[in-house]
Amino acid sequence: MHTAPLAILGLVYVSVVTGMTLQRRAVDFFDPAQGGGSMFDNATYGGEPLNVIISGLSSPDVLTDGGVLNYAKVIGFSQECLGFHLGAPQTANLGDGNGSRNQTVEFRQDFGNAIFGSCFESLLGGNHFRIFRQNGPSANSGALFLAASKEKDASTNHDLVGDGYNIGRNELVAAAVGTKSHGGVTYNTVATNITGLMPVGSDGVNHGIAVDGIVTLLTVTVQ
Ligand SMILES: *[C@@H]1O[C@H](CO)[C@@H](O)[C@H](O)[C@H]1NC(C)=O
Ligand SMILES: *[C@@H]1O[C@H](CO)[C@@H](O)[C@H](O)[C@H]1NC(C)=O
Ligand SMILES: *[C@@H]1O[C@H](CO)[C@@H](O)[C@H](O)[C@H]1NC(C)=O
Ligand SMILES: *[C@@H]1O[C@H](CO)[C@@H](O)[C@H](O)[C@H]1NC(C)=O
Repeated sequence: MHTAPLAILGLVYVSVVTGMTLQRRAVDFFDPAQGGGSMFDNATYGGEPLNVIISGLSSPDVLTDGGVLNYAKVIGFSQECLGFHLGAPQTANLGDGNGSRNQTVEFRQDFGNAIFGSCFESLLGGNHFRIFRQNGPSANSGALFLAASKEKDASTNHDLVGDGYNIGRNELVAAAVGTKSHGGVTYNTVATNITGLMPVGSDGVNHGIAVDGIVTLLTVTVQ
């Protein structure tokens, strides 16, 4: 009579124990909603859409902090201007069992100068993205979830341009696809659009800016 619930408990137990080994699973990513998470991060006035995912099936190096920093440079971004955060760090729950976590790092478009360029971006506006890593015990894909957006300049308090999330995503992806090199590493990036993972519209979205519901999956392979 109680076999079914016991079997379910058994399954949960097995998956928890398996998860605790923290073994990376060979998948693109896990849908955060399946683990009680969200495709929106936690910003000041609602959530920013996690509209780009760097696949867990990318070359392992790309998914490390140092690796993604080099990759960000190749597509025209650098670490935030001299370490200053103009905005508060945001948090996200990727449904991997870690609950809500701070962003790993934030990159800003560097306007062709990897050291000082991101300072110009802070003043002039441009494209930026935050990174969240899905590596908790219950959904350890290693995938990187990016909240990409396009901002106006500092005088407008880093407001987003209209349609800033969709445009930020499209510009980032356009800069990433194909074969690019930086720091002696050559990357090949393939993009695929995913619908159905994120709702369409502006409900609960930071600044009430609507999103088209498209998430672009990037698979990055070191050549
Ligand atoms: C932000 O965090 C609060 C408190 O943890 C939570 O209630 C809220 O749903 C979160 N918002 C988003 C958009 O994730
Ligand atoms: C997240 O960021 C906030 C603000 O900088 C900081 O107070 C908090 O300690 C951070 N949390 C973790 C777990 O690093
Ligand atoms: C998630 O939790 C694991 C331990 O279970 C830890 O190694 C990892 O750093 C955490 N990820 C983040 C983004 O905090
Ligand atoms: C993904 O969707 C965006 C917005 O419609 C479009 O601009 C882009 O070309 C699409 N990319 C791919 C790889 O289909």
